[in-house]
Amino acid sequence: MRITPNNAGLGARVEGIDLAQPLPPAGHRTILRALGQYGVLCFPGQDLDAPRLAAFGSRFGDLEVNVANLFHAPGHPEVMILSNERDAEGRPLGLNDAGQGWHTDMSYSTEIALANVLHAKRVPVRDGRPLGSTQFRNMHAAYDDLPAEVVERLEGRVAIHDFSKFWDMMRQRPGSIRGPLTPAQRAKKPPVPQPVFRIHPITGRRVLYCNPGYAMHIEGLERGESDALLEYLFRHQSQPKYLYGHAWAPGDLLIWDNIGTTHNAVADYAADEPRFILRVQVMATLDYAALAA
Ligand code: OGA
Ligand code: MN
Repeated sequence: MRITPNNAGLGARVEGIDLAQPLPPAGHRTILRALGQYGVLCFPGQDLDAPRLAAFGSRFGDLEVNVANLFHAPGHPEVMILSNERDAEGRPLGLNDAGQGWHTDMSYSTEIALANVLHAKRVPVRDGRPLGSTQFRNMHAAYDDLPAEVVERLEGRVAIHDFSKFWDMMRQRPGSIRGPLTPAQRAKKPPVPQPVFRIHPITGRRVLYCNPGYAMHIEGLERGESDALLEYLFRHQSQPKYLYGHAWAPGDLLIWDNIGTTHNAVADYAADEPRFILRVQVMATLDYAALAA
């Protein structure tokens, strides 16, 4: 395996490995360490079907079945399909607006995610340039730069994260195919507390774990103070120095750290510019400090 960091603070390309083959323990450890260090790993030129993608992802933790579970690969509820394409009858093939807004996957869940794994099959291109990039922000660096008084004010505090914040925001967009959450879906995903700062299980360093997609308010603070602090944190983490954008190519398999980064899908392509991506969400269910050691 050759790992080439791109020197943006986030992101590295990993070549010389075929992820459709079973991953040996040494390769597993190398990938985990690199994930902690670089946050976003791109393995170009891969070709995995749904079961092989699930097999690769499940080496890193239990795979999540999305609560809304609108679109998944046949026979694989854990393999979600992200796409703006439609079948011959006009039915959507996938979720067409995944992640279009800054967020961290699964922060609305008591059990958090380690990583998301996306494998691009079709990528929109216009005038020779790929569209539909995925952007990331570095939450190790964002934590490191926080002023001491902000850290002090937030030390030991939790924020309440709510799945419906992002869902309802996406639903209001023109052309959304998301329906209202059913009472059963709502009941499965009640608002949950998450520490504002947490120790990253691979790096052992502190990260800012508070994203604008799901964080509603900081528990135990009066609403005005909570709103002001959240606004401060969201503005702080939006500085360009923390940003890294991934421009997709078909065959890319991207694995990103869902504890030490936030991300956003850029919606700059049209309905007739096809994008098709397979995805598995890896929950943080293993002892990563031990596995990466
Ligand atoms: C996701 C997500 C981004 C993208 O799958 O969680 O945010 O670019 N996707 O598709
Ligand atoms: Mn996401």
